[in-house]
Amino acid sequence: MRGVLKLLLFATFIITGSLAAVLGIDYGQQNIKAIVVSPQAPVELVLTPEAKRKEISGLSIKRLPGFKKNDPNAVERVYGSAVGSLATRFPQNTLLHLKPLLGKSLEDESSVTLYLKEHPGLDMVPTNRSTIAFAVDGVEYPLEELVAMNVQEIINRADSLLKDRDPRTEDFVDKVSITVPDFFGQHQRNALLDVSSIATGIKEMYLVSEGMSIAVNFVLKQRHFPPGELQHYIVYDMGSGSTKASMFSILQPEDINEPITIEFEGYAYNPHLGGAKFTMDIGSLIENKFLENHLTIRTDELHANPKALAKINQAADKAKLILSANSEASINIESLISDIDFHTSVTRQEFEEFIEDSLLEIVKPVNDALAEQFGNYKTNLSDVNGVILAGGSTRIPIVQEQLVKFVSEEKILRNVNADESAVNGVIMRGIKLSDSFKTKPLNVIDRSVNTYSYKLSSESDLHDVFIKGSVYPNNTFALTNSSDSIPESFTIDLFENEKLFETYKVNSAVVKNSYASEKCHAGVAYNITFGLSSDRLFSVQEVSCICLNENDVDESKQTRNRNTRLNIASKETEIQRLSTPELLNLHNHVKLLDKQDNKRFQLQENLNILESDLYDARNLLMDDEIVQNGPKSQVEKLSEMVRVYLDWLEDASFDTDPQDIISRIREIGILKKKIELYLEYSKEPLNSEQFKGMLEEGNELLQAVEKHKNTVEGFLSEFETAYIDTIENVREEFKKTKYPAYISKALSTWEEALTSFKGSIIEIEALLAKNLFGEDLRERLFEIKLRFDTYRASLEEKLHLIKSGDESRLNEIKKLHLRKFRSQKRKEEKLKRKLEQEKSERNNQTEPVINNSTNKEDTPVNDKTTESNPSFKNDILHDEL
Ligand SMILES: *[C@@H]1O[C@H](CO)[C@@H](O)[C@H](O)[C@H]1NC(C)=O
Ligand SMILES: *[C@@H]1O[C@H](CO)[C@@H](O)[C@H](O)[C@H]1NC(C)=O
Ligand SMILES: *[C@@H]1O[C@H](CO)[C@@H](O)[C@H](O)[C@H]1NC(C)=O
Ligand SMILES: *[C@@H]1O[C@H](CO)[C@@H](O)[C@H](O)[C@H]1NC(C)=O
Ligand SMILES: *[C@@H]1O[C@H](CO)[C@@H](O)[C@H](O)[C@H]1NC(C)=O
Ligand SMILES: *[C@@H]1O[C@H](CO)[C@@H](O)[C@H](O)[C@H]1NC(C)=O
Ligand SMILES: *[C@@H]1O[C@H](CO)[C@@H](O)[C@H](O)[C@H]1NC(C)=O
Ligand SMILES: *[C@@H]1O[C@H](CO)[C@@H](O)[C@H](O)[C@H]1NC(C)=O
Repeated sequence: MRGVLKLLLFATFIITGSLAAVLGIDYGQQNIKAIVVSPQAPVELVLTPEAKRKEISGLSIKRLPGFKKNDPNAVERVYGSAVGSLATRFPQNTLLHLKPLLGKSLEDESSVTLYLKEHPGLDMVPTNRSTIAFAVDGVEYPLEELVAMNVQEIINRADSLLKDRDPRTEDFVDKVSITVPDFFGQHQRNALLDVSSIATGIKEMYLVSEGMSIAVNFVLKQRHFPPGELQHYIVYDMGSGSTKASMFSILQPEDINEPITIEFEGYAYNPHLGGAKFTMDIGSLIENKFLENHLTIRTDELHANPKALAKINQAADKAKLILSANSEASINIESLISDIDFHTSVTRQEFEEFIEDSLLEIVKPVNDALAEQFGNYKTNLSDVNGVILAGGSTRIPIVQEQLVKFVSEEKILRNVNADESAVNGVIMRGIKLSDSFKTKPLNVIDRSVNTYSYKLSSESDLHDVFIKGSVYPNNTFALTNSSDSIPESFTIDLFENEKLFETYKVNSAVVKNSYASEKCHAGVAYNITFGLSSDRLFSVQEVSCICLNENDVDESKQTRNRNTRLNIASKETEIQRLSTPELLNLHNHVKLLDKQDNKRFQLQENLNILESDLYDARNLLMDDEIVQNGPKSQVEKLSEMVRVYLDWLEDASFDTDPQDIISRIREIGILKKKIELYLEYSKEPLNSEQFKGMLEEGNELLQAVEKHKNTVEGFLSEFETAYIDTIENVREEFKKTKYPAYISKALSTWEEALTSFKGSIIEIEALLAKNLFGEDLRERLFEIKLRFDTYRASLEEKLHLIKSGDESRLNEIKKLHLRKFRSQKRKEEKLKRKLEQEKSERNNQTEPVINNSTNKEDTPVNDKTTESNPSFKNDILHDEL
């Protein structure tokens, strides 16, 4: 599956601009999958820290020990598989499967009750915007913030994946393309956009319909469709929280070089049918069995125990997976309640009998999607070419059985990866929408499953703007009926499926007086521009007031109606979006927690490094070679250090200064290295002969430094004479030329390196003067030689860099001269031409026929460039430096 996609991407990608990366997220109720694409790492699934292909949707928030209960910053977040086990131990801290609560209020009873049933023990509180927040250890987290934490963690992981692929990369995720169910309304979509404002670094978020994502992936994967034949497919997507059927037509034009068109044709869904419901069903089976076997436990007692319920839910979820492939699943729950361990089993038959009443629900979305096609489409089931299965829950045998019964076996397409088709599609849509790369062209015609309308405060009727089935994105305008009076202000209410969600207040005070005095004979009307964005958000974009004049109507279009743009301000009704200051606060909070978590992670990692380094060092100290031939004082120092630091590690905690750990790691490392080097130097004589030789070599190096200075000086003097006509101040220009960044960075410590090296030479001179040599002084002599070798290597490297840097600087001067020289020549020629022209004009008066003057101009001027240039070439310069 991924192989095919990869091939497609490689074959069609051309970087078109920004170097930033796009992240595609399939945001599911139970699981999240993500793919990152950047110029460096064309397409890659973002694996979890445990190398899994899907993430758990949600997180745990734990209070750090020793902090106050309601300190919003003293918390640690846990993601990934660890969350699963925390759910049963700390149900009140574990916030899973938040998707169905986005953009909802606590009043939304069906969603909230179901959620609490599945996630017992959580403390849900209303925000002042009528949305939901969770109170965890006395701190309230708006839902948007929790989802942002989830998304942020994935972005961070995607960013470090990019860095892993190419450590020099500057790429990072700044665009996110995320799946949304088509049934998500305005509040839900807005909530996701708020999530993107809270997370760090997201410049743009694209909401892409789940069904369209899967259809796009299907088309890109299948690639070949019969030219000129309109095909119809149904995407049947049963996830954890909901089941959706989306109908698409796919058309490959006769000319197969023309792009394929995918068009959304029909839709139906069930917002509560899905894997989570089946888990609850199995949970009820387990619960019934438990209560039948333990008559002393009352039902309400069990229901009031969140940990017990969480354990049953977890066991049920496991059993559901087992029952997809087996006819029976055994259940083992330790200490379910009152220390009772419960063992039982559930058979597939029991499960299927339990859900018998809801079997019809399984195919209903397919049936409804066919029945409620947009516009005039009337494709019947026999015209449908295939049903594409997507979503993990389509693996449940009874679901497949029902579908096969309804649409026949041949039409069920199982060749699409049910788990990853949405994420593969959403990244392709993201790339397209963000215009980040060139991709295989594809015509995507998306349609709204909802109807959008408006109502004016002066009227009682709704007016439809974009009806169900409208193509989006789109803009349109509506003209109101004319009216004779202008109010100070009026409102425009926006509706989605006849449900009010936002009100625009229009300030018409500016036209009230002016239009009255302008005598709008036919009154005024308002021109309202509406938009349905690519995120499927309905809004008023502009309102203007038109002064209607009867004369205009009579006397044709010569004089235009005047119109004035009015100020508008909007406010969501019922459920409101986060305000900018609130968004900023949450953004900062998530950022701070991220920083803290990251710091803790780093700290733990460094503690682990220190610990393992200390054990390594301890092993090294027991090495025979070291025991016998090692440098005695250093060995003693290291073993003391190991002892003290291992003690110290015992007490290290999250309060430990990270710098302290790092410097201990460094100390251990240096000492270990020294001991190893000492052994490596065992063949060195370390006698006066050797040190005399070193002194000589050292002085040679210092001379080489001097010589280089002189060489540069020599060239500069030569240039001064040679370039006297072109460069006013050669030395000044030379000073202005710069070393490349990597050289100037290395040279920033040039003086230090030189001083250290000179110090090392003085040390050797003193040593030779006092003639302090001998086996017993070996450790000290080793240190002196080690210092010398180290400083020499550093200085040599820097000298090498300075040479190549100065070479290119001198070449810069040479090039500058050439540029100036040519420019002077051009000026001279221009002058010459001008003089000749004046001359020829004078001649023209006496001898008017000269038609060959262009030839004259082309005659090559004797170019003296090479003559006046000092005779050196790049390679000569290089040799001399
Ligand atoms: C809700 O409360 C926050 C402070 O917690 C405040 O900044 C915000 O303006 C309030 N919003 C509304 C709609 O009252
Ligand atoms: C489906 O439509 C085709 C024509 O488009 C028609 O021949 C056929 O009878 C229809 N089948 C059903 C079951 O309605
Ligand atoms: C845009 O919407 C208007 C009003 O619904 C409709 O008349 C028009 O055809 C639409 N344009 C496109 C390109 O779909
Ligand atoms: C204009 O007025 C007519 C009749 O009063 C009404 O039916 C219609 O909906 C109005 N149109 C608009 C755009 O307000
Ligand atoms: C209404 O406003 C839109 C711009 O927002 C403009 O394109 C359109 O022509 C206007 N319609 C009328 C009738 O003035
Ligand atoms: C030369 O003289 C002729 C006729 O007097 C005139 O048309 C032409 O423009 C002149 N050419 C130049 C180059 O001045
Ligand atoms: C240039 O001069 C030659 C002879 O002197 C003549 O044959 C030719 O036609 C002239 N060309 C033009 C473009 O005046
Ligand atoms: C024009 O130039 C050509 C060569 O460039 C030369 O052969 C010819 O004699 C010239 N004619 C005149 C009229 O100068």
